[in-house]
Amino acid sequence: MRDLLTDLKKRMDISERDLERLISAFLSTSDFWEAIAVSRLPFNMVVEISKHLYERGIIFFEDEEQVVLTDKGKRLFDYGVTPLKGHLCPSCEGKGIDLRDWKELLKVYEETKEGRPEPLLEYDQGYLTAKSVIERIAFADGKGDIRGRKVIVLGDDDLLSIALGLSGLPEGITVLEVDERLVEFIERTGKKRGLKIEVRKHDLRYPLPNDLLGEFDTFFTDPVETLEGLGVFIARGIASLKGVGSAGYFGLTTAEASFRKWRDIEKMLVDKFGVVITDILSDFSIYENWDYLLESIRRDLPPLNRKPNVLWYKSSLFRIELVEGYRSFNEEGKGEIYIDQESMAWIRREKN
Ligand SMILES: [Fe+2]
Repeated sequence: MRDLLTDLKKRMDISERDLERLISAFLSTSDFWEAIAVSRLPFNMVVEISKHLYERGIIFFEDEEQVVLTDKGKRLFDYGVTPLKGHLCPSCEGKGIDLRDWKELLKVYEETKEGRPEPLLEYDQGYLTAKSVIERIAFADGKGDIRGRKVIVLGDDDLLSIALGLSGLPEGITVLEVDERLVEFIERTGKKRGLKIEVRKHDLRYPLPNDLLGEFDTFFTDPVETLEGLGVFIARGIASLKGVGSAGYFGLTTAEASFRKWRDIEKMLVDKFGVVITDILSDFSIYENWDYLLESIRRDLPPLNRKPNVLWYKSSLFRIELVEGYRSFNEEGKGEIYIDQESMAWIRREKN
């Protein structure tokens, strides 16, 4: 194990715990994609470690897909690395949300979003399952951030605005979205269903229009996960809020953000923006698989050539709140905000 770790450390910045987490994940599931989620390690790191383990005969891929520890691998880690046993509540899957009051909304929302535009690589899109969208609203409602509130959605590939509109709960809903197809879909659906949603085409790299500054009680956004990009999205959110007591929600993955990056993000929230992180709901939101995945990632391991069969891409939900002394910014985002070394598209981008 020591030799293995020493070799891995030559290839990447990795701790003993990282390696053990991945082995635990492989002992918990043979599905490579699911193992990425279980390990809570960045995708690129999982692939790098796995390549090394594969070359060393510690794991192999059955039918090019299922990851299995070899006898050598099992011996190497039998000193105490075990499968991860989940202990989540079976009725809410660990979300803590009672969905009974939201069943009807979920049903209508699912019908309403039929025929929606599919995700594009160009905009780093990918959307949540309908259930995850409703759970977000239910959680935020439980914090007093939805009912009678003015809500802004910054980038709405999830069509959260439509679900909010259908719920009839917020006092106002505004959406800023860069993708013309989504702007059109939300507008058309809003008209058809009589929902009061204001949609504007806007690229969040650019400052918020003046009339939206300090106007909202709650923002939602699913930012790109580079530190710079996330900073720009959060800045837009905070600038849109009324002030102390207003809240913001955003998702953050482990697949594209290491815990070191999480630390840097948390630091930025507290030190730069002066806000408080009130909640982090672990792996709360689940994404539908998206069509362009295999075209956007590295393919240098057998399972990376097959589309995932499980919903494996998850994000944790952060809630932040403005407290006295918070700081607001509304400047243009400069430089590369979409891709960093932890982005799934990184290696592919480097080769091209
Ligand atoms: Fe529960």
